[in-house]
Amino acid sequence: MIANRKEEHIRIAEKNEVNASHNYWDDIVMVHRSIPEVDYNSIETNMDFLGTVIDYPILISSMTGGTELARKINRNLARAAEKFNIPMGLGSMRAAVEHRELGDTYSVINDFKIPVKLANIGAPQLIEQDKKPLTEKDLDYLIDLIGAKFLIIHFNFLQEMIQPEGDRNAKGVLKRVSEIAESYPVIAKETGAGFSRDDINDLIDSGVKAIDVGGLGGTSFAAIEYYRAEKTGDMEKTRAGTTFWNWGVPSPVSIILASGRIPVIGSGGLRNGLDLFKAISLGAMAGGFARTLLEGADDSYETVEMNIRTIIREFKIGMMLTGTRTMGEARTRSRIIKGELKDWTDGYVG
Ligand SMILES: Cc1cc2nc3c(=O)[nH]c(=O)nc-3n(C[C@H](O)[C@H](O)[C@H](O)COP(=O)(O)O)c2cc1C
Repeated sequence: MIANRKEEHIRIAEKNEVNASHNYWDDIVMVHRSIPEVDYNSIETNMDFLGTVIDYPILISSMTGGTELARKINRNLARAAEKFNIPMGLGSMRAAVEHRELGDTYSVINDFKIPVKLANIGAPQLIEQDKKPLTEKDLDYLIDLIGAKFLIIHFNFLQEMIQPEGDRNAKGVLKRVSEIAESYPVIAKETGAGFSRDDINDLIDSGVKAIDVGGLGGTSFAAIEYYRAEKTGDMEKTRAGTTFWNWGVPSPVSIILASGRIPVIGSGGLRNGLDLFKAISLGAMAGGFARTLLEGADDSYETVEMNIRTIIREFKIGMMLTGTRTMGEARTRSRIIKGELKDWTDGYVG
């Protein structure tokens, strides 16, 4: 059941328009330097990712596991993570707890030397729903399965609200995250609806090691669930999917709110290396790409490699044309914030 749903998510994300209507990265303009005084060949993109040196500030964001298709995608993404020496997250690993025989659709990534592997579980699964919550023993199993350095806890209550089989309870979730963060290195992650100021304050207090903002502007899970509801003729959920298609906090806003206070992964709607550069300029330590890296990932490793190679090139061109040589300098570049994003940064009070 979960496995079918996961496969459906991938197919829908590949074939349909699932993006939010507005991409907020378009509201940031980096200021050009026509006299950059940098040698392109001396540009350095290596950096410290929560204690591990990686070659580029790129995270392959959590997407999949639990099916044959997922195994193929995870293998291709993992090979690229090794090639570029960058971190990789897996999709929700709940299926591996419930069906141990599916474990190798995740652990397939162990065939590759990946600097940082991130296990992934949904916040709703940590508290009482129709099913019993996951235990520490379950978390240990998931972390050991892939040799993860971090446990991502993802927040997806927008999706839970729209999907037919969604978990409806969020009461007590923060306390549970705090308890888990005492014993495990946790990264808190949204899945396309971003974190507000209050969320970020709560998460910093909870003791998580980093925040992956997963903000509004890219993949919309209300949109993905809209297509699933449409297929089954569920008018109520189809309507709710449309109504909440653009719900959330824009990715750049969440980054601005969190950066300097806790390590931040900028994600949600990153399409290319220039978007990545914009995220870093706002103070993110790295950027996370999901749907952009899904393209062709079920087909061939070469497509993934070319995709990441292009992102890196664009990122470095952005560095060059703003007179930026190091990652430290990248976080201080001049930029203009305009349009809907400016409405947010000017108008977000309370
Ligand atoms: C097909 C698909 C499956 C996803 N599954 C998960 C998941 O299991 N766990 C998770 O934390 N995020 C999941 N995500 C969310 C992404 O990691 C990311 O936060 C979101 O898609 C926004 O990034 P994007 O605009 O680059 O796609 C999934 C995204 C896609 C497209």
